[in-house]
Amino acid sequence: MDRLRCGVIGVGWQGGGHLANLQADPRCELTAICDLNEALLAERAAAFGVPHTFTDFRQLIACEAVDAVIVVIPDHLHREPAMAVLEAGKHLLLEKPLAVTVDDAEAIAATARSAPGTFMLNLSNRFMHAFAAGKAALEAGQYGAVKYVWCRLANRLEVPTTRLPWLQHSHLAHWIGIHRLDIARWYIGSEVRRVRAVERRGVLAAQGFDTADFVQATLEFDNGAVVNLEANWILPAGWPSLVDSRFYCLCERGVIDVDRTRSELSMAGESFDLNTPGAGPVHGRAAGFTVEAHRHFVDCCFSGATPLVGAADGLALAKALCAVVESCRLDGEVIELS
Ligand SMILES: NC(=O)c1ccc[n+]([C@@H]2O[C@H](COP(=O)([O-])OP(=O)(O)OC[C@H]3O[C@@H](n4cnc5c(N)ncnc54)[C@H](O)[C@@H]3O)[C@@H](O)[C@H]2O)c1
Repeated sequence: MDRLRCGVIGVGWQGGGHLANLQADPRCELTAICDLNEALLAERAAAFGVPHTFTDFRQLIACEAVDAVIVVIPDHLHREPAMAVLEAGKHLLLEKPLAVTVDDAEAIAATARSAPGTFMLNLSNRFMHAFAAGKAALEAGQYGAVKYVWCRLANRLEVPTTRLPWLQHSHLAHWIGIHRLDIARWYIGSEVRRVRAVERRGVLAAQGFDTADFVQATLEFDNGAVVNLEANWILPAGWPSLVDSRFYCLCERGVIDVDRTRSELSMAGESFDLNTPGAGPVHGRAAGFTVEAHRHFVDCCFSGATPLVGAADGLALAKALCAVVESCRLDGEVIELS
């Protein structure tokens, strides 16, 4: 195989980023896209010069000109296309989360275990320089074991109100909480045993969105480590970045503190923008963590190596985050994971 022929199912917000990453990689050829939204499909096909377009994902998966598929449709719809790609023996890059129910997550993970193709879950934050450097220091034994992590990921209000028409089918724990819990679990190297979480509604409910404003969870791991995880998506328009991202990891002999909100770059015009770096081209060349995640997937497709984030990670995270959602539903009842 000299070039990886790729198809993308779902070309919305995040799907658009995947199209750009594919186009920037000389090892890849963007051969097919699929979306239910025909106007968007036509617009993307014209913008990226894609020869094959489909509204039925089964047709894209069956297309002879496709070796690898990127699935980028809403969180609660991942099961069917993901399993179809794996069953067709093609390579799969699946957007996070693996699924929003344990049943769906187990089904995808079981299929991935016996599938011949490469499978990667796109938890792209593992490819941010700071988080990768922290992991390398932990692996080198520099700071000893992780004792606890406090972390937050938040979005400005415009994300749930203008960008996610399907938000009531997912949960902000699956939408953004997953990114920080993934890093915490990766650093801790153990599995979640017990969860207690609460959420509150108000700001979004008043605007007609049937979803929580924030969630706060405490997750205890088998090895004794503890994670305090916060997620919210009601940051005001004046917050100077689309995200607020904090991560404080206390170890036996050190601290790893990643503050991605206070970035190195600030720009001000009519408004002040902290412009969280990490994505976007450098001198016209694709760069940043999303590009690194994509390159890693393509590397693994060519070499046969196992990607850094697999179905087992996705399943463990789905179990923990479904427990978070369930504990919220029960107003803070403790959930034990088997
Ligand atoms: N890794 C990250 O940091 C990151 C960031 C944003 C989104 N995501 C994930 O990407 C996925 C998509 O999110 P988004 O923000 O792009 O959503 P979006 O609503 O902007 O786009 C989803 C697209 O999928 C299409 N679609 C829905 N059902 C379909 C089907 N059955 N067949 C074909 N097309 C279908 C919709 O028409 C839409 O264009 C979600 O799982 C989300 O969690 C990941």
